[in-house]
Amino acid sequence: MTRLKERVAIITGGAQGIGFSTAQRFAEEGAVVVIADFDQDKGLQSEQALRNEHARCKFIPVDVADRTNVDALVATVKQEFGRIDILVNNAGITKDAMLRKMTPDQFEHVIQVNLSGVFNCTQAVAPIMIEQEKGKIISTSSVSGVYGNVGQTNYAAAKAGIIGMTKTWAKELGRKGINVNAVVPGFTETRMVETVPQNVIDQIKSQIPMQRLGRPEDIANAYLFLASEESEYINGHALHVDGGIMM
Ligand code: CAA
Ligand code: NAI
Repeated sequence: MTRLKERVAIITGGAQGIGFSTAQRFAEEGAVVVIADFDQDKGLQSEQALRNEHARCKFIPVDVADRTNVDALVATVKQEFGRIDILVNNAGITKDAMLRKMTPDQFEHVIQVNLSGVFNCTQAVAPIMIEQEKGKIISTSSVSGVYGNVGQTNYAAAKAGIIGMTKTWAKELGRKGINVNAVVPGFTETRMVETVPQNVIDQIKSQIPMQRLGRPEDIANAYLFLASEESEYINGHALHVDGGIMM
């Protein structure tokens, strides 16, 4: 399998969940994978798991909300691998609360990781991709950012913002040979949804025509398509991978 042969890919939040599934999928397709994650223990475990499958993989600890960290990440990858072909802005957190109970800290923290983190990583890799006259930038939005979701003022704001930034960057960077797209996952079976009360999950499932939550590999396959040569003329798109939860 060689759809990403020798491509150098940074996957933020790649230590678990959707990000790790994406790292596995990219590695299967021949990519050199950099797992950039906040969680040292999980990051090292994931690096080892991929190396056991003979993947070319490196874990680099990073907080995407910290610009100095992100600049160091990008400099290390460029120095070690010579280029950066793919950036998957996947790192994300939730701090859910109803509007009346949400603290300014809860609001700010989610915006810093989920929105500023995407800005930081994209701004840091863009000059390298512009110089290469080639690159793929894919960011993770959410159905919460498109339709809203009870308890997610902060998260919905960040995920809607990602779509706006994606379209802006598609216009700015498309003419430089860089494709910029977003994936819009529906509710997907990872640690993130474990915090959602069961009655809410049941209600959500009943609204999905496919009658199940997403699996991490469902989202990873969408990233793969948008990272591959097969999507060369797709730019500024927000690809829903949500089982048709809302149409
Ligand atoms: N739809 C409709 N009503 C809802 C609701 C929902 N999804 N969730 C909660 N409510 C209602 C409750 O039934 C309750 O109604 P009443 O006051 O009439 O009883 C009211 O809102 C308050 O709910 P809680 O009693 O649960 O309030 P709380 O302060 O204890 O907790 C909460 C609030 C933290 C938001 C909690 O309800 C919760 O965790 N909800 C789920 C939030 C969610 O869906 N998060 C998604 C995480 S996964 C993710 O983010 C991935 C992605 O991209 C989609
Ligand atoms: P997860 O919680 O399983 O994984 C998130 C990863 O991001 C973790 O490895 C975590 O350590 C890392 N991370 C968190 N903060 C970070 C930071 N500041 N810097 C670097 N890494 C950081 O979550 P999941 O479900 O795999 O989510 C991946 C992305 O998909 C997130 O952006 C999430 O918002 C989005 N998403 C998830 C959905 C779901 O239902 N699971 C639905 C829609 C979008």
